[in-house]
Formats: sequence, C-alpha cells, structure tokens
Amino acid sequence: MNLLNGKNGIIFGALNDMSIAWKTAEQAHAQGAGLVLTNAPVAMRMGAIQELAAACDNAPVIPADATSTEDLEALFQGAMDHFGGKVDFVLHSIGMSPNVRKGRHYTDLKYPWLQQTLDVSAISLHKTLQTAMKLDALSEWGSVVALTYIAAQRTFPDYNDMADAKSLLESITRSFGYHYGVANKVRVNSISQSPTMTTAGSGVKGFDEFMSYSESMSPLGNATGEACAEYCVAMFSDLTRYVTMQNLFHDGGFSSTGVSTEVISKFVKD
Ligand code: NAI
Repeated sequence: MNLLNGKNGIIFGALNDMSIAWKTAEQAHAQGAGLVLTNAPVAMRMGAIQELAAACDNAPVIPADATSTEDLEALFQGAMDHFGGKVDFVLHSIGMSPNVRKGRHYTDLKYPWLQQTLDVSAISLHKTLQTAMKLDALSEWGSVVALTYIAAQRTFPDYNDMADAKSLLESITRSFGYHYGVANKVRVNSISQSPTMTTAGSGVKGFDEFMSYSESMSPLGNATGEACAEYCVAMFSDLTRYVTMQNLFHDGGFSSTGVSTEVISKFVKD
C-alpha cells in the first residue's frame, strides 16, 4: 500500500525479533519508509539490531540512551543528516523497571530504582520530544507514538512501578501533544497494547497466566505484536492526521469488557 512512501522515521527499542519495535520497523519499511534505528548502547551489545538494519535497506543504527539529552541530540542530528531533512515519525518503545527486574514488591520499592523506572520508561518521552522541538527535527504533521499498558488506568498488582511510569508517559503524551500541536502540527499519541510475549513483557511476574486471562477477557483475543506494528504504521501515516493527545487502546476489546462469559463460567457452581 506504500502508506509511508516518502516518509522517514526513527524507531527506538528493537531488542530482538520479538520486540514490538522490531515488528514496527519491518512493517514501516515494507510500507516504503526510510528508517534510523536506535537503542540503548548496552542493549545493542546484546541485541540483534544490525540484522534488522540490514533487512531495512541498511538503515543506520545510532546508539542512544533515551535518558541522555546529549545522546538524543546526536540521534536526531544524525537522523536528519542521513535523511537530508526532517523526521516524519518516531516510535518510543522503551520500558524498564529495576524494581520489577529485581523482584521488589510495590509496597517495598527502592526509590532510586523508582526514579530510574520513571526516567527510562516515561521521562525519556519528554526528553525525546523536547530535544526534537529544540532542534526543529520533526516535520509538520509529524507523528510520535509511545507504547503503553492499561495498568496506567486500572490496577494490575504485579505490574508494579511500571504502572506509575505508564500513567506519567500517557500524561506527557497529552501535555506535549498540546504544545507540539500548536507549535508545528506534530501529533503525539500512545497506543495501549495487549500483553505481548517479549523480553520486557515476560519480565512481569505471572505473565503467562496473565496473557491467558487477558485472552479470555478480550472479545477479539489479545492483539499480537504484528497487529500492534500495523496500528503504529496507521498512526504514522497521513490517514490519521487529526488524531493527537490520545491514549488508543489496541487490545481486542479488553478495556471495555467488564467480564466475559468465558471468565464468568469458571465461577459456576456444580
Ligand atoms: P522489549 O524488551 O523488546 O523492548 C523494550 C526496549 O526498551 C528494549 O529494546 C530496551 O533496550 C529498551 N530500553 C531500555 N532502557 C533503555 C534506555 N535507557 N534507552 C533506550 N532504550 C531503552 O519489549 P516490548 O514488549 O517490545 O516493549 C516495548 C514497549 O511496549 C515498552 O514501552 C513496553 O512497556 C510496551 N508494552 C509492552 C507490552 C507487552 O506485554 N510486551 C504491553 C503493552 C505495552
């Protein structure tokens, strides 16, 4: 369909071929986009990002820790040099909580780790947008998408401090979306995705059971990573130009379902 023909974008967060960012890069490339790929320098040593870059017409890979404004400046500058112009879309696909990783309970958080969770998983979106704005790096009608989870609105006990990070991420989406819309018609949205089997996802305690629960609570079933990538492409395209400052549920109907027949049937007494 060439939905992204002539557009150029930066994709954060492709760690391996399970990553939602990896699938989005593949789909964006297939729809005609030019790409620059980025991830934290440490993730790059572990990851297979060069393989993805080769599959996307040798897209440049520019390492950037998304909590470092210096790294982000070098990233946007490098991307503009490569594209010979501004950036049309950005995918923020970044999440990490030391408290989750190290199994700290939500009622016993280590606060320096909470700061890190918020910095990496939420404030990095603000830093990305502020850096882009200062460098005037995004085109008019440009589109920025950040990935989030419904734990921002409702409590899922094992999601831990990532829930607080996602609430902040969605708030930054709205607040910066206002200012960037007024300044340059840039739109900023978050996509709230079903649980998906990836490295970040499977770090959450009880994730397998949780995926099954979510599947049986969603009329369409859990949305896959591939389907999420397709939605991201739609949001980068010109077909969604007036959508901004939204949190968009991409979850097979989970967010609007109180209870499903499948789940309630488990409580029927003999
Ligand atoms: P993933 O583990 O493949 O991706 C997370 C990425 O964040 C990795 O590439 C990692 O290197 C990157 N990252 C961590 N710290 C960074 C830093 N300081 N600077 C730059 N990048 C850094 O996992 P997944 O699931 O593809 O995660 C992508 C996004 O989707 C995250 O925001 C996640 O919270 C969100 N999400 C995931 C769901 C799931 O069930 N997998 C559900 C809903 C949202």
